[in-house]
Amino acid sequence: MYNPSIFVVDDDPDMVKGLVLVLREIGEVGTAPTAEEALEYIKRNPVDVLVTDVRMPGIGGISLLEKVKEFRPKIEVIVLTAYGSIESAIDAMKKGAYHYVTKPFNNDELLIVVQRALQDKRFHEELEYLREKVNKAHVFENIIGRDWKIQEIFETIKKVSPSKVPILIQGESGTGKELIARAIHQHSPRSKNRFLGINTAALPENLLEAELFGYKKGAFTGADYDKKGLLVQATQGTFFLDEIGSMSLAFQSKLLRVIQEMEVIPVGATEPLKIDVRFISATHTDLEKAVKDGAFREDLYYRLNVVRINVPPLRERKEDIPLLAGHFLEKWAEGEEKKGLTPGALRRLMEYDWPGNVRELENVIQRAMLVAEGVDIQPSDILLRQEPLPWLVEAEGYSSVTYDKAKEEVFRHFQREYFTNLLKRCNGNITLAAEKSGITRTALHRIIKKLNLSEEVLTMRDSLPQVTSK
Ligand SMILES: Nc1ncnc2c1ncn2[C@@H]1O[C@H](COP(=O)(O)OP(=O)(O)OP(=O)(O)O)[C@@H](O)[C@H]1O
Ligand SMILES: [Mg+2]
Repeated sequence: MYNPSIFVVDDDPDMVKGLVLVLREIGEVGTAPTAEEALEYIKRNPVDVLVTDVRMPGIGGISLLEKVKEFRPKIEVIVLTAYGSIESAIDAMKKGAYHYVTKPFNNDELLIVVQRALQDKRFHEELEYLREKVNKAHVFENIIGRDWKIQEIFETIKKVSPSKVPILIQGESGTGKELIARAIHQHSPRSKNRFLGINTAALPENLLEAELFGYKKGAFTGADYDKKGLLVQATQGTFFLDEIGSMSLAFQSKLLRVIQEMEVIPVGATEPLKIDVRFISATHTDLEKAVKDGAFREDLYYRLNVVRINVPPLRERKEDIPLLAGHFLEKWAEGEEKKGLTPGALRRLMEYDWPGNVRELENVIQRAMLVAEGVDIQPSDILLRQEPLPWLVEAEGYSSVTYDKAKEEVFRHFQREYFTNLLKRCNGNITLAAEKSGITRTALHRIIKKLNLSEEVLTMRDSLPQVTSK
């Protein structure tokens, strides 16, 4: 095991002595009496965690923090602030400190914070490592995944791409069906030609027919010229039939004929045109069941389902979440410095069940990037499921109780909503939450107790112990 390196800066020699005694239990501890000396040391030596006093002669702790972060952004900095100086604590957090500890502190509390910082740093390094690795075995034509089910899909794509066999991709919404269809095309000899597709659920039948098969001038009102159908335009390419589960039986028969004969008759024409496309279809519905229910033609089903790719929902391949999250952070950074995820934020992503699958993850990351203020995305930046205000909905049912009772209930719901969100924003830091809401810490403690929030508050914290003055 490697021995972490901790560095302590304080102008008070007794304080330094005390800190060394405590911290050497968990790592190598270097010390300096001034920020200037600390800077010199850190420039030349590896340091994992820096513990610094705020007020020192010469360069103060906050400037030291800023300077260190400039050339060693990965060092975690813990700032020792004086009792009652919440401003410097907030300032330090804004400038990228890992946490602050208010003097006088208890040794165990400090030890926990430093340990946590070391742990999180290692977690970050692991994430970084994974992100590096993503570029090799875990990416295939823009599809990311290390889960074996996805790896198996990579293998299937490689196997089936060269041929012309029809492929049916089944998976919940947002699992990456279109991405897979495009990957098959890209990986096939047809990649020089077009990948075209149509969402069969999105168009009324007559339009679907006109689009797919084309039409002759004068075939219907508005057909002012001959138009080539998409299936003809995709010659020697790939054609993607999306959401095939909702085609009418009549249209299914037409499509079956097209696939059997490999020709189309444009609307208003008499002569068929030869087509040469590879069909890939996708569905999020259970086609076997539709066949049993008589809603989907069995013969068409067998035609389309020569090779089947089942895409698992994201909740069944959670180990891919860090990779995908990292990928989307990069994708949406748009030239700016890429934001990271705090371990707590990642944990929130891992615990969620993702009904909207990868697309939902992408949206959540995009939104988090917009609201995140610091360099990293915090747990409170992760907004899962835009929840309505349940207390308003529930309140409608209160017409049968007295006004006072209803008011009390609604108020309680509001309080819960307000303080849960506030504490999330403040990482469970009660002092900060009290300050922001304009009430005293005692009052806040009372509310937390009344609403029985403590457990929720704890789980929402970014896994930091609460270190405040007593
Ligand atoms: N494994 C993956 N790696 C990288 N990006 C992915 C992956 N899976 C999905 N995505 C991204 O998620 C989004 C949704 O994917 P896609 O449109 O392929 O899903 P879909 O299954 O076709 O969804 P729907 O059924 O709603 O049409 C896209 O932006 C896609 O790039
Ligand atoms: Mg799709």
